[in-house]
Amino acid sequence: LTTSFDTSIVSLPHTSYRIFTGMDILSMIGPVAQEEKIPHRVVTIADTVTQELFGNRVESSLKNFGFMTDGISVPPGESSKSLENVRKLYDRLYDLHIGRDTALLALGGGVIGDLTGFVAATYLRGLPYIQVPTTLLAQVDSSVGGKVGVNLPYGKNLVGAFYQPTFVFIDVQTLATLPERELRSGLAEVVKYGMILDERFLLQLEEKFDTLIVPELDQYPEIIKQCCAMKAIVVGRDEKEEGYREILNFGHTVGHAVEASTGYRVLTHGEAITYGMIAETLLSERTGRLSGKEADRLISILKRLNPPPLPDTLNAAEIYERMFGDKKVRKGKLRFTLLTRVGVAEPGVTPPEEPLKEILDELYRITPAV
Ligand code: NAD
Ligand code: GLY
Repeated sequence: LTTSFDTSIVSLPHTSYRIFTGMDILSMIGPVAQEEKIPHRVVTIADTVTQELFGNRVESSLKNFGFMTDGISVPPGESSKSLENVRKLYDRLYDLHIGRDTALLALGGGVIGDLTGFVAATYLRGLPYIQVPTTLLAQVDSSVGGKVGVNLPYGKNLVGAFYQPTFVFIDVQTLATLPERELRSGLAEVVKYGMILDERFLLQLEEKFDTLIVPELDQYPEIIKQCCAMKAIVVGRDEKEEGYREILNFGHTVGHAVEASTGYRVLTHGEAITYGMIAETLLSERTGRLSGKEADRLISILKRLNPPPLPDTLNAAEIYERMFGDKKVRKGKLRFTLLTRVGVAEPGVTPPEEPLKEILDELYRITPAV
């Protein structure tokens, strides 16, 4: 069975789990769930888009291998990651009379993975759950590492847990229907891995960048596997983000503030993070870490991700203020992950205020590469 997939392992002090990656493998979820000793009952949680596209294939594969299945869907989009939806899901699970002999299966992007994982962490004090990510962002980032949670009206991901899945199942073929804008958003996180951890990986991305956008899906299994392997190493060293895991937050201090300042509607997560990585690359340069040449190289690949222009209404002072809501803030001080060279990140840096404010002012003048 395992010969049909590439398998890698996330090893943590108290548990370990496998990531299965392959092309057109959705109908193999049944046998894998059986091999992974998943309880006999599985409730799939999807958004209406991913339910329509993939729900039947997943549920019939599970049924063929003796699982009892049910499906619940929520509307697509970030607004589904809410406590109201958590409550609705608890109600549905209660109506289905599920017990601890039930696993949840997250079928969708990061919104569904984070929401389902949070429900799994809390309902009946914890149910096992499976991640079946269907966006590039979820396949390279959010489905691995156990960060689950929902938003509150005044901030993103403010309620959550570290709660690891039983396994992650990545069918790269699901990306065939993904809109280009979502693909580019996921690519931002792919590029991030090269910038913080692996210069050679970044070089490969630079060389084949145009074919990644088309996209030629055949190249993606290898790319996704490499990203998951990098994430597994980081999470293995620091599961609960006591320090080192903050390197995965490169671009996110400014990026989250941009996202919040634009009401989570104008830019996708990946687009906001692209601007965040541009700002934090400039900050790495102006605090004497990166050379001008290195910074130019990184900004050039980030511009090729082609995020839409920032709205004129966005205000640098507001972005600055919003950064103080970041989870990395300690003793009232902003802390960034900056780059000391291409492929090497330094977490926990508090930079001087001046260059930071200048860079936020300049962010509006960034024009994407055509
Ligand atoms: P998403 O889940 O909203 O998916 C984006 C859109 O793509 C949705 O409209 C969805 O219906 C659609 N879609 C999904 N798969 C599809 C497919 N195969 N074909 C066609 N359409 C498809 O967004 P996302 O970018 O996957 O995830 C963003 C979320 O992930 C944010 O809430 C962010 O906070 C979270 N996140 C979490 C972590 C983590 O470690 N837990 C890391 C990064 C991001
Ligand atoms: N996406 C950042 C992390 O998982 O830590």
